[in-house]
Amino acid sequence: MYEGAEGRAKQKAMDLLVRYGEALGAERLVATKNVCGTIGASTPFLRDFGAKNGFDAVFSEFNLDSAEVVEIPKMSVYSSHLQQGLDPEHAEEQGIPPEVVKVYRKGEAYTAGLGVQLLNTCAPYTVGNVPTRGEHCAWMESSAVIYINAVLGARTNAEGRESAGAAMLTGRIPYWGYHIDENRLGTHHVELDIDVESTADWGLLGYYIGEVVQDRVPVITGIRQSPNLPRLKHFGAAAASSGGVEMYHMVGITPEAPSLEAAFGKNKIISRFKYGKAERRQAYERANVTAKDSQVDFVMLGCPHYTIEQIWEVCRLIEGKRVHENSELWIFTARQTKHLADQNGYTKIITDAGGHLMTDTCSALGRVIPKGTKVAAVDSVKQSHYLPAIMGIQSWFGTTADCVNAAVSGRWTGGLS
Ligand code: F3S
Repeated sequence: MYEGAEGRAKQKAMDLLVRYGEALGAERLVATKNVCGTIGASTPFLRDFGAKNGFDAVFSEFNLDSAEVVEIPKMSVYSSHLQQGLDPEHAEEQGIPPEVVKVYRKGEAYTAGLGVQLLNTCAPYTVGNVPTRGEHCAWMESSAVIYINAVLGARTNAEGRESAGAAMLTGRIPYWGYHIDENRLGTHHVELDIDVESTADWGLLGYYIGEVVQDRVPVITGIRQSPNLPRLKHFGAAAASSGGVEMYHMVGITPEAPSLEAAFGKNKIISRFKYGKAERRQAYERANVTAKDSQVDFVMLGCPHYTIEQIWEVCRLIEGKRVHENSELWIFTARQTKHLADQNGYTKIITDAGGHLMTDTCSALGRVIPKGTKVAAVDSVKQSHYLPAIMGIQSWFGTTADCVNAAVSGRWTGGLS
């Protein structure tokens, strides 16, 4: 491939991977059969570029680092598309003009034509892309990377648009970082001194740990109640936001930590710390650092994209109520999950209440919020971390119930229990 025997595009891809691997000090490449990345026109800039120059030009320039436009063949390995920049079915609500949706649809057809699965979600593991233990992957999206490494025992680093695109074409990725056994061992020991229960609580725990360990590998003990998928999803997304955590262990819960000894292996513990009430409060205050005004214009749920279980929970909270006239409720999920929500009657419950169930994107990534929003409320620490900085608004963070209450009353009344 490097010498061009399989065409110009794969040659460019292999050249990129070799340069990338050399910069990282990787000893070799490793084969992968599961790649998640972005290749279409997910931002306004890329949409303009694609509309003017065509989508092979987008792939050449922004996935292969090539000013020369090469013809892109079908992908060589199972590849999935992550979240995009807008929801074509809710373009009007998101303030997106029809001509932009046209380009989006073209980009989507191009992506499907290359054989890439249009999952269009930051949580592919909730809609069927569930790598197995030890499987070498090449995934982008920090919240997904940490989930498949830690919870599923698969192996990936947080790839970029370029390396993921090149991996789709070649089925190779540099062998370094979390592909290697010893880099997956624990470095910091976190002892829980408090019950961690709600999804919001798990987000706060991740937020605190990420801040302390940065990009190392925390090992958590003292968990009294096994967290479910949404809790682990929010924990990981938060730890990857405040720090750069891509791997962790929960002793007795995650697959590479049957015991404390196994989690640390030959590593010396760099530091040990407790997480109790004071640390939880600290994380909560940090997650609410931008919030001041109690009037809430916008409630955003679904970061990372909601599972069907979370949509069902919201329905139980909002059924028979109405979103306040001065507020909006937008919930984000994967397309496949939305189909299920449609069939189960959940979408109707949400729309009857005045909310919207959206797909493909989210407020922070797509920069889509209702016009005039000044104060948002979210149940995701990750969203609370990014949304105010990206959109210049305030953001309250709390439980899902706090957020639904805010949507219905138009006011924030949440707080730490
Ligand atoms: Fe997903 Fe957006 Fe959160 S892409 S992880 S919902 S910031």
